[in-house]
Formats: sequence, structure tokens, C-alpha cells
Amino acid sequence: MPQLIDVLVGDFEQAVLTGLAQPQKVIPARFFYDRRGSELFEQITQLPEYYPTRTETALLRAHGEDIARYTGTGRTVVEFGSGSSAKTPLLLSAVRANTYVPIDISGPFLADAAAGLAKAYPNLKVLPIAGDFTQPLRLPDAIAADALLGFFPGSTIGNFAPRQAIDLLRSFAATLGEDARLVIGIDLRKNPRLIETAYDDAGGVTAAFNLNLLHRINNELDGDVPIELFEHRAVWQDALGRIEMHLAASRDLSFEVAGRRFAMKAGETIHTENSYKYRPEEARLLARASGWEPMAAWCDADALFSLHVWQAQGRKLEP
Ligand code: SAH
Ligand code: AVI
Repeated sequence: MPQLIDVLVGDFEQAVLTGLAQPQKVIPARFFYDRRGSELFEQITQLPEYYPTRTETALLRAHGEDIARYTGTGRTVVEFGSGSSAKTPLLLSAVRANTYVPIDISGPFLADAAAGLAKAYPNLKVLPIAGDFTQPLRLPDAIAADALLGFFPGSTIGNFAPRQAIDLLRSFAATLGEDARLVIGIDLRKNPRLIETAYDDAGGVTAAFNLNLLHRINNELDGDVPIELFEHRAVWQDALGRIEMHLAASRDLSFEVAGRRFAMKAGETIHTENSYKYRPEEARLLARASGWEPMAAWCDADALFSLHVWQAQGRKLEP
């Protein structure tokens, strides 16, 4: 059983109380991921409407050898927001990694995923870190001398506004070191109807994922939010290039969280997530603005999703 390194996990109560006091109520998307939230996300990845996971998986399968030409083999893989690590074995075997460091905020879910991986791949050293990757990270001493390959799949980068995304990718470059490479999945701009359907599936799984945040508030913050009076909304914002998720009050209502009372008017929303979609040239600009140099990129035939290899800036370009 891999040993779990536990570091700072964001302060849920502080974030919820501050966010609900804003004129546009907001709760950061990283709080979706308690165990139930992680399980619901896994269900989302299997939905016919949710194209990112199967498309990125196919890209990893098709381009493993190409990726290895740019990253070389034998690097230690450090994954940011690893979730179930379902796609990771494709990369680990392509780049012949011996050591894997999955990082995720959803601690118990990460522990299970890491244990499963260690069992399935007995020769792989798995060193999980439970924590918030937006905070300063200390990698395990055991990999201090290793060449590192960052892995940031799923277009989790899209959950950050461009300015924050640049800061985050810069911090990854600092964490991984000057010789690092990064394999990153970035969802592409496309027909907005396809995007809205992916974030509002017919079976209501994404709605349950969004509403689970309210269950978390009630369970963990002594809340009495009337969950049945909230509705899931997914709205494409063309000027901003992002799909937004909201929880909308179906009528005037009020509730308490951690002893504080909040009121909402009918139709008022809590903004729970942004998912930015990039054009290929914007993805390249994002790399260059954040301490990375694009080396290679691939996308599927329908141009739904893109997979990139970047090299930390300040080194001569290879190969
Ligand atoms: N990499 C997987 C999971 C993507 S879902 C895939 O591609 O399918 C996003 C993952 O990032 C979740 O597992 C969530 O728990 C984790 N996550 C989100 N915000 C985080 C943060 N700030 N720090 C660490 N992990 C985070
Ligand atoms: C994790 N993240 C990249 C997902 C996304 O597509 O933005 C989370 C998600 N939200 C709704 N469906 C999936």
C-alpha cells in the first residue's frame, strides 16, 4: 500500500462563506471533489455526451511513441489532478516510467486509486500526494534527483481563468525543474451546442455532480441548504470562451451555513465552475506565457481535443 503524503487542503468553510457573500455567489470548482464528487466525475467521463475523456484517451493510445520521442524514457511522472489515474498507464508505459507521483485534492479517492495502481503494476513506485496543486508543493525527497515529466490531462487547466492558468503553469515549471517536460490535455473551441450538451447530459449525472457541492456544504459545514430548490445550469459564454456551471435558485429562498444566513432570489445563481476552451494557437500562447515551449501537439480528426508536449523554457530545444 503506497504511503500517502498529506499536505494543505483548502479551507472549504472560508471559501464558501466568502463566496456566498459576493454579489455573484461563487464557490471554487476544486471543492467539487469529495469522494462522492470524484465518483460522479468518473461517471461523467463515461457519458456519451462527455467527449473529452475518450478523445484524450485515444490520443494517448495513438501517440504514446511520439510522446516518448519528445520526453525521452525513464522520467518520473508527476500528475496534477490525477483522479482515478485511469488514463495514466498509457503514458507510464509509453515513457517507461518507474516512478509515479499522483497529486490530488480528493484524498481518500486518491489513496484508493494509488493502491489500485501499485497492485496492478508491482514494478511501479507510486508516491501519492494529497493536496492542493495551486499551493506550493514539496515533491518527495525520493525523486529529488530524477528527471521529471509533468502530466496534466483532462483539460483541468480549463478550470482556471487564463491569468490564473498562467500562474499555475509557471508554478508547475518551478516545481518540476528546468529540464522538465509537460504532457497536457487541452479541450478545444468547437460548436457551442456540443459543449453545452457535454456539460448538461440527458441522464443528469453532471447535474448531480454540481448539486453534490450543496450536499457537501450541508454535511461538512452544518448547512441547511434546500437542495431540491436548486437547478443545474450550463451556459456557454462565447466572448469569454468558456462554459460556466451554475446552481440556480428555483424560487426565493434562504439557508444557513456555519451559523451564517444567506438569501437568494428566484433565478439567482451560485457560479460553481468555468471550463475554458482554447484555439490551437491560444494553447501555444498559453505555453509561452507560462514558462514552457511547445514541442509537439496532436488532436483528433474532429478537432475536439488536443494533447501537447511542452519543454521547460530556458533550455535548448530538443530533439
Ligand atoms: N486527470 C483526471 C481527472 C480530472 S478531474 C482525468 O483526466 O480524467 C480533475 C481532478 O483534479 C480531480 O480528481 C480533482 O480532485 C483534482 N483537482 C481539482 N482541483 C485541484 C486542486 N486545486 N489541487 C489538487 N487536485 C485538484
Ligand atoms: C475536471 N474538469 C476538467 C472537468 C471539465 O470538463 O471542466 C470537470 C467537469 N465539469 C463538468 N463536467 C466535467
